[in-house]
Amino acid sequence: MSRIPLIATAAFGLEAVVSRELMELGYTDQTVMDGRVKFVGDELAICRCNLWLRSADRLLVEVGSFEAWDYEMLFNQVQSLPWDEWLPFDAKFPVSGKSVRSQLHNEPSIQSVSKKAIVECLKQTYQRHWFEEDGPEYPIEVAILKDWVTLSIDTSGPGLHKRGYRPEVAAAPLRETTAAALVLLSYWNRERPFADPFCGSGTIPIEAAMIARNRAPGANRAFQCEQWGQITRDHWKQAREETRDKQLPKPRFTLQASDIDGRVISLAKKNAFEAGVADDIEFKKLDVLEFKTTREYGCIITNPPYGERMGDDESAADIYDDMADAFEPLTTWSIYALTSHPGFERHFRRKADRRRKMYAGRIECHYFQYYGPRPPGEQPLDGEQPLDGEQPVSNEPPTVSPADGSVTTSPAVEADSGTGTN
Ligand SMILES: C[S@@+](CC[C@H](N)C(=O)[O-])C[C@H]1O[C@@H](n2cnc3c(N)ncnc32)[C@H](O)[C@@H]1O
Repeated sequence: MSRIPLIATAAFGLEAVVSRELMELGYTDQTVMDGRVKFVGDELAICRCNLWLRSADRLLVEVGSFEAWDYEMLFNQVQSLPWDEWLPFDAKFPVSGKSVRSQLHNEPSIQSVSKKAIVECLKQTYQRHWFEEDGPEYPIEVAILKDWVTLSIDTSGPGLHKRGYRPEVAAAPLRETTAAALVLLSYWNRERPFADPFCGSGTIPIEAAMIARNRAPGANRAFQCEQWGQITRDHWKQAREETRDKQLPKPRFTLQASDIDGRVISLAKKNAFEAGVADDIEFKKLDVLEFKTTREYGCIITNPPYGERMGDDESAADIYDDMADAFEPLTTWSIYALTSHPGFERHFRRKADRRRKMYAGRIECHYFQYYGPRPPGEQPLDGEQPLDGEQPVSNEPPTVSPADGSVTTSPAVEADSGTGTN
């Protein structure tokens, strides 16, 4: 199959980051929707995207989509999809269902009707009445949004945030996919200093170091579709070889990561070692008030305490006051902070050049971005500009196009206009 419809799923607010990652991998034929980016690729694309996507949650094969508002419509259309292109006679195919704002809303019924319809389709193909389901697993999802049904098979298995380097975490860790998105949304690159003074289990500096090394985040893990017959060992061999060939040497500056808690620093060091970037990051036990650097034109990308998850609102506010004092001398640095605290800008004593709504787990946060000057002689390169600078994306609720059921986001409305240059 050379043109397989694929879906990269994304957390709310990260669709445009996933879209840009796909563009950079060469998959330009895309539709960006709420929570997902649809695109077209081949078997090798399935391997590459699982290995390389940093900010997506998982990669699905789209088997079909259609409108349905009763069970007969659902059954008939599910049955008519080309299941035999994917499911062998011994496939194990658990079906999960979810429904949002649709006439078909009973999820257990949606699941069982879809499962029956798939079995009917396979009975005709394989001329059998019974399926043992003792072969490779193809997890199927039926997702219904405003009566528009999408059937997909999960190629990833465990979510793509599971890179395999973080068996233990400190309190309130960020997802690896979110941490990678924070770095991808910034102006930081491997030629500039980096610091995270609230590093916790080290997720942001580890993701930054992997980006600097151009290391594929999925290189050390397995994927669901490695069991499937459609994707051969040669596909995987080629895709895994590419990940080795594309790695870059150590970045120009050692990344700085610090935290007031010595126990989380030990954990972060262990995680960096597992991720293979221990030599690229210097970890220190340090109160943010003590943070100092002689380097210039760096980026602080950080996730300070919010109050909601750790400590209380007031102590979080005191920490933002300390950040304001500690970062005041850093006149050439850009600062990026993710927090849910409503008083962040007031306590940090600066209005952000840009704010972006994002989620840390279920907590609604803002990513506050303060742009410092561009380093002398640095030209904006393709792919180095932050996404906010080139393609503002709204976090407004999506609108559904009646023509094809695709969901689009409306133009940006929430960005503050900025005067910063970098
Ligand atoms: C929200 S957590 C960061 C989580 C981290 N991004 C991760 O993925 O594990 C905030 C961190 O700030 C640290 N912290 C709290 N007060 C601090 C201070 N005054 N100076 C430096 N670190 C502090 C906490 O120990 C905690 O690890």
